Amino acid sequence: QWAYLDGQFQPLLDTKISVLDRGFLFGDGIYEVVPVYNRQLFEWPAHYARLERSLALTQISNPLSQQAWLDLLNELIERHPWPNQFIYLQITRGVQTPRDHLPAAHLTPTLLAYTNPLPAINKTNIGRGIAAITHPDLRWQHCDIKAITLLANVIAKKSAQNAQAQDALLVRQNGLVTEGSASNMFLIKDGTIHTPPLNEFILPGITRQVVEKLGTRHHVGFVERDIQESELATADELWLASSTKEIIPIVTLNHQPVGNGQAGPLWSKMFDLYQDYKRE
Ligand code: PDD
Repeated sequence: QWAYLDGQFQPLLDTKISVLDRGFLFGDGIYEVVPVYNRQLFEWPAHYARLERSLALTQISNPLSQQAWLDLLNELIERHPWPNQFIYLQITRGVQTPRDHLPAAHLTPTLLAYTNPLPAINKTNIGRGIAAITHPDLRWQHCDIKAITLLANVIAKKSAQNAQAQDALLVRQNGLVTEGSASNMFLIKDGTIHTPPLNEFILPGITRQVVEKLGTRHHVGFVERDIQESELATADELWLASSTKEIIPIVTLNHQPVGNGQAGPLWSKMFDLYQDYKRE
């Protein structure tokens, strides 16, 4: 397995960064996760647009041209045998000493990329659904940036595990549901998909964007609106969606069944549409 670090490919397990990297010391960096299906990048233009946006909002310079990014990703895919992969890209502000919160001028960003096998998606398995809990959203006010600082997400995931659940729906102090610990959330009521609007409290997910596109294309209602925690108990279906998990049904929330406690019909339909879309 290979990693690309600062301009060269090297064996992943031998790849090392400096302890003075601002990503390590300050969490001063951003990332992307890009799926590869059948050895082809999935929705790369959307991932690249979000990468550029994360860089702009954090004032980290883009180390590569758009073409150089594509060349790098394609070489990374080629170096690995798996038909389906997920590529992790991370850009930190770079190495700096002495320690200072204020970034030095003209740092060279650190670019790390490596790829992982993406397990085959099986409808029967995913259709069993997952157990989730609600959990306070302990994050900052710029969740629209794909920042590498993920401590609050990790705590939420760990709390879910402690409660014998697989994931957490995050709830802000104002009672609004934002997203999962590493996914966007959808509430289905009376055949319509509801999801929180894009703002600084959620990540603009690429899978979410595809769900919106497929909903619109197939005349399924898709509404972006605030979702109150109190609405979760009366949902027909709840879903999470991300690049690595695609679309997964939540079948119990806080140990209570969601709807009839099984993956719902709209999930089944959206799952199939998503599989077709991957092959387009
Ligand atoms: N996470 N919201 C959060 C907080 C996320 O971390 C993610 C993805 C998403 C979904 O975004 P997308 O559909 O573009 O993957 C929403 C990635 C997969 C991760 O951290 O591994």
